[in-house]
Amino acid sequence: MGVRHESCAGYGVAPFASLVAKYPGEDVYPIEDFRVEWGPIFHRGRLDGSARILVLGQDPAAHEAISRRILVGEAGQRVQGLLARVGITSSHVMVNAFLYSVFGQRGGNRHIGDDAIAGYRNRWLDALLVGTQVSAVVTFGTLAAKAYAAWTATQPETAAAIHVATLTHPTYPESAARAGGPLAETTAAMLEQWSAALPGLVAHVVPDPPCGQSDLGRPYAATWRDGDLVAIPEGDLPAGAPVWWRDLDQWAARTGADSQTKRATITVAVPKGARTWPPL
Ligand code: URA
Repeated sequence: MGVRHESCAGYGVAPFASLVAKYPGEDVYPIEDFRVEWGPIFHRGRLDGSARILVLGQDPAAHEAISRRILVGEAGQRVQGLLARVGITSSHVMVNAFLYSVFGQRGGNRHIGDDAIAGYRNRWLDALLVGTQVSAVVTFGTLAAKAYAAWTATQPETAAAIHVATLTHPTYPESAARAGGPLAETTAAMLEQWSAALPGLVAHVVPDPPCGQSDLGRPYAATWRDGDLVAIPEGDLPAGAPVWWRDLDQWAARTGADSQTKRATITVAVPKGARTWPPL
């Protein structure tokens, strides 16, 4: 009956079961600086020891608040595309520097080094990096880079054996453009930086067999091209996730006339291309 679907098995095994049973809340993440009301979003990808590359992002956004996995929206699809160029289609695991979405401009910088935030994040990084087969870490954005540097100070031996690529955050060009920066130039600079990191990553990560191999190490052009964004694997999302949660088209956005309404509201809509039902 029906087709067989893959899904994320969740947090049933140690140490993840205890990590998700007791996590920092409003006592640690101040509600003025984080959207704690949407709950913590922990990870995406393999927790069964099969991951060979770890991605460290910044904080979850609207798609992530709904799907309960990180890096699912456009930023996540850009990251998934980078992984494809490293030959990785499933052997990845991702965590963010913050469990909750940052609210406001300065919250991230203010709290990146907070002891309790870093302490809990380091427990995840220990679980995913110490004594595992992860051979490379990619950090996206300055806050992720700081978070990883703080972890390396606690585990210097493990860190010394891991290849690191410290990259610009996938949606930095759009954020910089909102502040008046030149979108095309910032995008080109980021893609050049990502391209330059590919040979090192390819050299340090055993690829998944064999699909996507033609993309291995292929540099980016100066603008986003068809195929650069890759859909989130079905097996990364909770069981029963609708197909369009993996769509390249946007399906969730914070909406509202003022910042309070916007904070309280995420509008979810099935993308036009996924509306397969017959019209009335
Ligand atoms: N979504 C995430 O989960 N992390 C990011 O860094 C960006 C978007």
